[in-house]
Amino acid sequence: MTASQERALEELWPRYGIDYENSPLDLREIFGRVADLTLEIGFGNGDTLVLAATDKPDQDFIGVEVHEPGVGHCLIQANRAGIDNLRVISHDAIEVLQNQVPDAGLARINLLFPDPWPKKRHHKRRIIQPSFLALAADKLQAGGALYIATDWEGYAEHIDEVLELSKDFELAERREHGGDSPLDRHTTKFETRGLRKGHRIWDWHFQKA
Ligand SMILES: C[S@@+](CC[C@H](N)C(=O)[O-])C[C@H]1O[C@@H](n2cnc3c(N)ncnc32)[C@H](O)[C@@H]1O
Repeated sequence: MTASQERALEELWPRYGIDYENSPLDLREIFGRVADLTLEIGFGNGDTLVLAATDKPDQDFIGVEVHEPGVGHCLIQANRAGIDNLRVISHDAIEVLQNQVPDAGLARINLLFPDPWPKKRHHKRRIIQPSFLALAADKLQAGGALYIATDWEGYAEHIDEVLELSKDFELAERREHGGDSPLDRHTTKFETRGLRKGHRIWDWHFQKA
């Protein structure tokens, strides 16, 4: 963690941070309004999330990330952008979804380049599993959207299979591309890294059924 990230975690947390608690958030109190809310899971350094929040000032955003240097970076970028429609939680996203996000509280969930866990014995660690989809569906409002992207072909096959079996989600759009056609999102740091290695990119937009 850099000194400026550490400083940001202290100084900017009161403005942008939400502490993890085992009780549902009062979204109206947090944002001072009622607006469509996007939850981004595993935002990495947060650059893509800050751009999305800057693009859409009439919507609200919460990012969840366990990697503290990334959280610090995100706070710095949010402060530089001067935005007030973004908050950050530094905790495990599953617990945040289970305990802190109100049912039907979200308009959209972004899961951009989740850890692919390429080894077969680690596949069970992948976040996209039937239990995750059931939880995500509970937290999305009617007509809510789930956006997923990956640069890992084996994970793309897994995502196609698991979502095909889900009764909670319908495919709205699927793209396979070379980094030139992201689906309603900005390019991410991990995507750029994958593209440099010659990977292809898969993007999905699912709609809550
Ligand atoms: C491969 S990186 C992608 C980061 C970013 N979305 C991007 O595309 O540049 C996956 C990120 O998810 C975070 N992550 C993994 N499991 C998580 C969890 N259970 N809760 C919150 N964040 C998680 C990791 O710390 C990591 O930053």
